[in-house]
Amino acid sequence: MKYPKLFEPANIGSMTLKNRIVLSPLHANFTVCDKYTDRFVKYYEERAKGGAGLIITAHIKAEKDIDPYPKTFGYPIFDSAAEIKYFTDLTETVHKYGTKIAIELSPGTGRIADEPLPDKRPVGPSEIPLLTMPDVKTRELTKDEIKQLVKSYGKAAGLAKAAGFDAIYVHFLAYLGDQFLSSCWNHRQDEYGGSLENRMRFLLECIESVRANVGDDFPLIVGIALDHGFAGGRELEETIEIAKRLEPLNIGALHLRRGSYDAMSLLIPTPYVKDGIAVDYAYEVKKAVNIPIIVDGKLPNAAYCEKLLEEGKTDFVGIARQFVTDPYWPKKAKAGKEDDILPCIRCVQCINRVFFSKSSACSVNPQFGREFEGPLPKTKEPKQVLVAGAGPAGMTVAKFLAERGHSVILAEKSGELGGHLIKAAVPAYKKETAAYLRWLKKQVEENPNVDIRLNTEVTPEFVSSVRPDAVVVCTGSAPYVPAVPGIDRSNVKLATNLLVNYKDEEVGDKIVIVGAGLVGCETALFLKEQGKKDITLVDMLPEVAQDVIYLARLSLLEKLQEEQINSRTGLKLKEIIPEGIIVEDEKGETQTINADTVIIATGLTSDNKLYESLKDEMEEIYAIGDCISPRKFIDAVQEAYAIAKII
Ligand SMILES: Cc1cc2nc3c(=O)[nH]c(=O)nc-3n(C[C@H](O)[C@H](O)[C@H](O)COP(=O)(O)OP(=O)(O)OC[C@H]3O[C@@H](n4cnc5c(N)ncnc54)[C@H](O)[C@@H]3O)c2cc1C
Ligand SMILES: Cc1cc2nc3c(=O)[nH]c(=O)nc-3n(C[C@H](O)[C@H](O)[C@H](O)COP(=O)(O)O)c2cc1C
Ligand code: SF4
Repeated sequence: MKYPKLFEPANIGSMTLKNRIVLSPLHANFTVCDKYTDRFVKYYEERAKGGAGLIITAHIKAEKDIDPYPKTFGYPIFDSAAEIKYFTDLTETVHKYGTKIAIELSPGTGRIADEPLPDKRPVGPSEIPLLTMPDVKTRELTKDEIKQLVKSYGKAAGLAKAAGFDAIYVHFLAYLGDQFLSSCWNHRQDEYGGSLENRMRFLLECIESVRANVGDDFPLIVGIALDHGFAGGRELEETIEIAKRLEPLNIGALHLRRGSYDAMSLLIPTPYVKDGIAVDYAYEVKKAVNIPIIVDGKLPNAAYCEKLLEEGKTDFVGIARQFVTDPYWPKKAKAGKEDDILPCIRCVQCINRVFFSKSSACSVNPQFGREFEGPLPKTKEPKQVLVAGAGPAGMTVAKFLAERGHSVILAEKSGELGGHLIKAAVPAYKKETAAYLRWLKKQVEENPNVDIRLNTEVTPEFVSSVRPDAVVVCTGSAPYVPAVPGIDRSNVKLATNLLVNYKDEEVGDKIVIVGAGLVGCETALFLKEQGKKDITLVDMLPEVAQDVIYLARLSLLEKLQEEQINSRTGLKLKEIIPEGIIVEDEKGETQTINADTVIIATGLTSDNKLYESLKDEMEEIYAIGDCISPRKFIDAVQEAYAIAKII
């Protein structure tokens, strides 16, 4: 077997897992009226089938009377026996595959409350500002309310045991539990605040209450942050002390992660954050206590996990997003078929959608969240489909159409498959995106139903000669080049060209990048990788990275700052001169920014010429991806899947 440590059975307390792979909690907002539905159960079933040893459910609340928040994430509530049936569906389904399941039980939300209700002020250990609405403060919980929360917590654990869960996961990260533990949020003057002993009282009482309801032998996993990742937050030393105090309590495992809602890029790492971000911190805890640990946070692949286990850095590996993109990654890794694993590109679209009250979706796996629909059915009416353009949209639609039994011509005008994905995958920090490109190419190259034609521009004449039954136009977008004087100078480069031809380009030491959207920012980071030091981003908008989704943007801004990339905003490009660029500010005043090399990253414009010329000629024709308007992988991939279903 390729990864003997990863796939060896191991125990968390009295629970034996078939391997050391843990599906970390991942709330996808697939609930309806705060209940698990078939959509969620099927999502978990697929991951159990795929080989997870343990599934930790997403966040489930133990009560809703004292702390009814958050209102928009759709977290289920397990506060009565009436809920047992929903959860039993889940545990029974997962158990069919020899996978164990723990319930992530939260005692409350505290300062993460959203949408404050007029008659129910959010509560916390103390009066503290809400994360997203600092003007609104939590009300300090009374001691009676704390006792009630503790009681409800234990009751929920008892209900969970009755519903067939194999373990209770005591969720003391980020939410109310963590806020009690941490002096940055807990300012109480009574026995629940002040010293660490007092701040831990709520946790210890919750554990005691769980024990009273599930018994002494029932496995418990405690989830805490290693550090909060901001000045004034908890640091590792105190976490080690917390772990030491938990040691006598027969805890089955500690689930250790870095970060908080105030440092999301540590908790849910982006491409701009290093692999295994929590590993070294977690290892410090492991060395200090005799409790098995689970660590997660961008563990890149099975080989990396195996090494961690071999070196004794962790006892279990927690994986969240890699299970989103490919539920079967454990089985594929075990069989040595790593090339078949669809990698997570760490784009954080999945969590960003949940943050904005939508159900989760993935940039690369359009079947995530649609497991309940089953695999795409084979077509009863095989057609010849011409796919014009082999970017992510074209390759994805070709893959799924071919799998359905259609015969696909995938025509690409350039000599390479990939479209903008090729450029997106160039920087070293985008290695997962490069792996995604390889995966996508493999899907179409190895499918006998896909006839790939490179260096083939689809034109109306080409369509007439092929006479396909249907055409899917995926012609994407082209860089927008501003028509300013000097744009043709030899010191001006297009970011999209530079990324792929860097070795052949002459790039000076003083660089200005015009356009500080995703492409401009990532080009700046790429140039840093190449050793360039003096890089300035210039944009007419008031802030950089405006086209980047919220959670990725936070992380990108941190990275730009760390790499000391300058930015100048509110400045419109007027002219390019031998010494650099002339820009105009909001008041109409001009200034010169000196540079040896000027890089243009002023956005993309959709290329819909082919669609416009064919749409009235063809009976069955679709346009997907950036040729509709320039957007992101998630749009190309989701639209591709939707069309592959209906042809
Ligand atoms: C540098 C860069 C970095 C990016 N990074 C990210 C990122 O990190 N995350 C993210 O989500 N998005 C990113 N994007 C955006 C993302 O790449 C696009 O949203 C995505 O590639 C759109 O896919 P598509 O298939 O619709 O179009 P494209 O990727 O543009 O592909 C279109 C393809 O069609 C071909 N073509 C055009 N006309 C014809 C024709 N007539 N006949 C045959 N072939 C034709 C083109 O040659 C091209 O290969 C990035 C974009 C760029 C430029
Ligand atoms: C969409 C999404 C939802 C998440 N939901 C939860 C949750 O409900 N509870 C929790 O403790 N962690 C949650 N997390 C954090 C993950 O459990 C995990 O710690 C994080 O994604 C890092 O691991 P990864 O790099 O393997 O994805 C979520 C992460 C994502 C991406
Ligand atoms: S949306 Fe992005 S980060 Fe989330 S699982 Fe998919 S590829 Fe990974």
